[in-house]
Formats: sequence, C-alpha cells, structure tokens
Amino acid sequence: SGCFTYDPGFTSTASCESKITYIDGDKGILLYRGYPIDQLAENCTFLETAYLLLYGELPKAEQYEGLKERITKHTMVHEQMNRFYTGFRRDAHPMAVMVGVVGALSAFYHDSIDIKDPRQREMASIRMIAKMPTIAAMAYKYSVGQPFVYPKNDLDYSANFLRMCFAVPCEEYQVDPVLARAMRRIFILHADHEQNASTSTVRLAGSSGANPFACISAGIACLWGPAHGGANEAALTMLEEIGSVDRIPEYIKRAKDKNDSFRLMGFGHRVYKNYDPRAKIMQKTCHEVLDAVGHHDDPILKVAMELERIALSDDYFVQKKLYPNIDFYSGITLKALGFPTDMFTVLFAIARTVGWIAQWMEMIEDPSQRIGRPRQLYTGAPERAYVPVEAR
Ligand code: CMC
Repeated sequence: SGCFTYDPGFTSTASCESKITYIDGDKGILLYRGYPIDQLAENCTFLETAYLLLYGELPKAEQYEGLKERITKHTMVHEQMNRFYTGFRRDAHPMAVMVGVVGALSAFYHDSIDIKDPRQREMASIRMIAKMPTIAAMAYKYSVGQPFVYPKNDLDYSANFLRMCFAVPCEEYQVDPVLARAMRRIFILHADHEQNASTSTVRLAGSSGANPFACISAGIACLWGPAHGGANEAALTMLEEIGSVDRIPEYIKRAKDKNDSFRLMGFGHRVYKNYDPRAKIMQKTCHEVLDAVGHHDDPILKVAMELERIALSDDYFVQKKLYPNIDFYSGITLKALGFPTDMFTVLFAIARTVGWIAQWMEMIEDPSQRIGRPRQLYTGAPERAYVPVEAR
C-alpha cells in the first residue's frame, strides 16, 4: 500500500539536494563546487581542495593557513590507539583495520560526537581529515612489521603520508616531489563523487543522528567492495593476470560473453557514459610516476594501454558506453609509488573522507533533513498461521 517507486540500485532516484559536486556523465564532466577537476588536480594542494569541498569556496591565503594549522594540530592519534593495531592479525586486510580503528575514534573523542553542536561537528571533521593518513600509514606499517612513523607537520599532507608509509628509523627519507605530486593528484581526484554508494552510506548512517566517526567507518566498509573502491585493486590484479599483450583478445572475448561473469575491471561506470575525466589525469600521472621510478617499460602499462585501445574500438564496449574509469590506471600508479595492492582502497578512503564529511555536514545543516528510510517491494509469503514444529 502507499505510493512509491521501485528503483533497484537507485538509478533514477535523487536522495538529496547538494551543492558540492556536479557530474555530467554523458559529457564526462566533474566539478567540485563548480571548478573542473582537471584544474584542481593540476593547481591545488589537497587541503585547498578539502577547504573548497567543505566550505564552498577556494580559501583565501589566511583561511588556507588557518586550515593547515588546525589540521596539523590533530595529525597524531591517541597513543593508546596503537594497541588497537597489535590486536589485529598482521595479515589482516588494512581495510578491515581501517573500519575498526576509525569506528573506534568515537570511543576516544567524546568531545566531538554531539552532532547538534556546530563546533563539535567541525572538530570531528578536522580530526578525521587530519588523522586518516596517520591511521592508514599505521595500518600499512603494522602489516609489514615496521615501527610506526609519526607525522612530520612541516611536510604537506601528501608528502607527510608518503613519509609515514615509507620512512624507516635511522635512515634519511626524502620525499620525491614527482611522487608527492602524484599522491596529491590521486587524493584530489578521489576526494568526492556526489552520491556514490559509500557517500550514500555515510548520509544514510548520519541521517539517524549517528556520530560522525561511526558514519565514516560505515563509508569505509562500503568502499571496500570490488564494484566500488576495491576496483583499482581488481584492475591491477586483472592486468597482471593478462600479463602480456597477446593475451588481451582472450580477455576481451570473455568480457563480452554473456555466459561468463568476467568483467574488464576498471571499465564502465554507473554515471560516466563517456571517458571518465579523472581517468585522463590518472593516465598522465601514471606515465609521470613510471618515468620517475624508472619503470617506463613496465609490461603491465603496455597491457593497459593496448587493452584500452582495443576496447575503445570494439563494438561491445562502444555500444554499452564502457570507458576506462579512474581505477584503470590508478592501480599501476599506486604500485609504482610502492604500495601493495591491499593498500589501494585505503588510499581512496583517505581522500574520500573529505567528501564524506562535506556531504555529511551538508546533510546535518539541511533543515529539511529526515531519517533515510527507503521502502521495499514485498515479494514474500502472504500472511499465514503459525504451525507447531511437530505439525510441519
Ligand atoms: N566489462 C564488461 N561488461 C561490462 C562491464 C565491464 N567492466 N561493465 C558493464 N558491463 C556490461 C554489463 O554486462 C551490462 O551488459 P548487459 O546490458 O548486456 O547486461 C551493461 O554493461 C551494463 O552494466 P551494469 O552492471 O548494468 O552497469 P552498472 O551501472 O550497474 O555498473 C559498474 C557499473 C562500474 C559497477 C560496472 O561497469 C562494473 O562492474 N565495472 C567493473 C568494476 C569497476 O571498474 N568499478 C569501478 C567503478 S569507478 C570507481 C568507483 O566508483 O568506486
């Protein structure tokens, strides 16, 4: 009873009004607060982008300095949280660690979980954006059995993260500026993408009044899935499995086969029915990083470029409008930066935390906001009477 629309996968349901991110999937356009993604990725720092997403405008110099100062004050995590890590198996997937540790922040920061208080909301946001790289780098360090590296606050957000991941005690560590720029771009490209699955999860969790740390943890859980944030890992695994250019046709054939569940990972998108604008920047960044680390002859890059070329001229992919998405080239790039595949989605989570928080803030500040409560199309048994066990 009642009147509602059935829309599996929410392909035509707008869940909210938003002023943050605009996508035109047919034209391949992505704007953060009106600014094209390529201009931001080329010119901004990550915290400048974060300011833009959170507050709606690019920061003036003193506003930018203010945000930087607030963020750097909060980059350390509570020392007691170190013990969390040692409670996990060392071979745990770092996304499992992220879901747990970020969720646990609400057990530590009681002074920033009252969502009715704007100052507490702001404090929770700053804390999460500041701590996410530290928490992620600790997950990585724990998995490889190395000591945690504390944040170095005179470095920029991306360079500091690389250092926390790759520096070791007693050895000088210099962040390569090409790699730091690549990391910064990757973070900017992943910072927001309107109402995708994880962002919708954060909004839905937040609509009940749940605290922001718990909401972001829910977003991380959703992001982990292979159809969402896990796709960069899946794309690289696929490229490595293909291994050489001569095996591509076999995989293209499988991807087109209706009776085979195999899909070309890193291809297709729910919204982009044209080239993903982020994929273009990612491809360029990928070449720069491979050059910087001396891997320009990487056979996997050759497979990727040839696969892209073949797919883009194949009727199946053209008709279904399946273009490479951001994840197609990000896996190769992240590998060249030195990250193991199970860290890829974690890096996505660091960046997307800014978008999740901006979206969560927008929702909480919207006076028309109500608890999210979708309906269903019931297809189960009609009403029937209980049957005692001996009579079944
Ligand atoms: N390879 C082969 N065929 C595909 C692919 C692919 N990668 N993607 C879609 N198709 C086909 C699909 O079989 C279907 O064919 P038909 O109409 O004959 O049944 C048609 O294209 C439409 O696919 P869909 O699954 O209905 O489209 P969707 O909008 O529900 O799914 C998607 C979008 C991204 C989940 C899907 O394209 C996919 O699984 N791609 C591979 C995984 C991937 O790269 N994901 C990253 C997404 S971007 C980053 C992010 O948002 O986290």
